[in-house]
Amino acid sequence: MSKFKEKEIELKKIGIPPETDEDFVFNLSLRPRNLSEFVGQKDIVSSLKIAIEAAKRRSEPLEHILLAGPPGLGKTSLAYCIATELSSKLMATSGPAIERAGDLIGILTNLERGDILFIDEIHRLSKVVEEFLYPAMENFQIDFVIDKGPYAKSIKFNLKPFTLIGATTREGLLSAPLRGRFGLFFHFDFYSQEDLTLVIKRSAKILEVEIDRPSALEIAKRARGTPRIANRLLRRVRDYSQVKEKGKIETSTVEKALSFLKIDEKGLGELDRKYLKVLIEIYKGGPAGVEALSASLGEEQDTLIDIIEPYLLKIGFVKRSPRGRIATELAYKHLGIPYDKEVQQKLF
Ligand SMILES: Nc1ncnc2c1ncn2[C@@H]1O[C@H](COP(=O)(O)OP(=O)(O)OP(=O)(O)O)[C@@H](O)[C@H]1O
Ligand SMILES: [Mg+2]
Repeated sequence: MSKFKEKEIELKKIGIPPETDEDFVFNLSLRPRNLSEFVGQKDIVSSLKIAIEAAKRRSEPLEHILLAGPPGLGKTSLAYCIATELSSKLMATSGPAIERAGDLIGILTNLERGDILFIDEIHRLSKVVEEFLYPAMENFQIDFVIDKGPYAKSIKFNLKPFTLIGATTREGLLSAPLRGRFGLFFHFDFYSQEDLTLVIKRSAKILEVEIDRPSALEIAKRARGTPRIANRLLRRVRDYSQVKEKGKIETSTVEKALSFLKIDEKGLGELDRKYLKVLIEIYKGGPAGVEALSASLGEEQDTLIDIIEPYLLKIGFVKRSPRGRIATELAYKHLGIPYDKEVQQKLF
């Protein structure tokens, strides 16, 4: 299954409507093209600007960069922006796409000086491929092994200096040696409502949709701190307003469109609410292990860890303890389930 399709299915699970072909094309046009168009993540952008400027002055390739954070926050977009700033060519691939070390040889030997190699989902590289990458990252060399047994010979091959940008949604799964070979490490956080409002206003302009600030803010509030979801919701609200409200977007349109999509005022979809309900009703508020939750929900653990939990943790609906996940008072309140402070607080 293509990576694009995998992501679509995951988003659909939390109740975000699936993407059409038209959406896919729009998505590309909505990507920020350079660092000045990149909204938010101020600390990352300013550190990057300095690193880029320094590399340019020294006429050296930029250090290898690791971008970590939940899906849809702009890791891929940022990698392309970096390439634009450096006027470099970007070659994109992903961890699961590189099955054997041999697959990497072709990619690496084709890189020109200063090119960028972008490896998405870098935590999914196999051990063998990962180890093959170490000398390439460290001193721009690769070791070919030719022949087998007693005649086996290792030949070194010099690569042109390049920059590796790795992206991962699961930094915890990266091995220490791989992590240690990146010179710059940036962790993406969820976007503020103000930043998401800017993303939505910008996208609306590109899509030629008229939207006022309060309506954009209303969408931003429900976009789980995630630009990809903000853009998706904008397009759904636009469709709704064209069909039901003669094209004008007002806050009431946003509210109606999103409740039609079963997205609540915190931006939670059906699977988020089901997750909380199971944690509260079946596991008495927790602690519950992710294996148990995944079995009860009939959902893959990866979906829970990558898509559902980061935002619930961020908004304080769920806490993690050594014994498992615990639902907080906020989560009970949100679902309208009575919270017994004394009983629950013994869990923490
Ligand atoms: N900082 C930003 N400013 C404006 N738009 C953004 C920004 N970040 C992301 N977007 C929008 O969100 C969409 C998703 O971003 P992107 O594909 O870069 O996320 P990602 O972090 O690579 O996600 P994944 O982990 O799922 O690959 C982009 O198409 C772009 O339109
Ligand atoms: Mg990406």
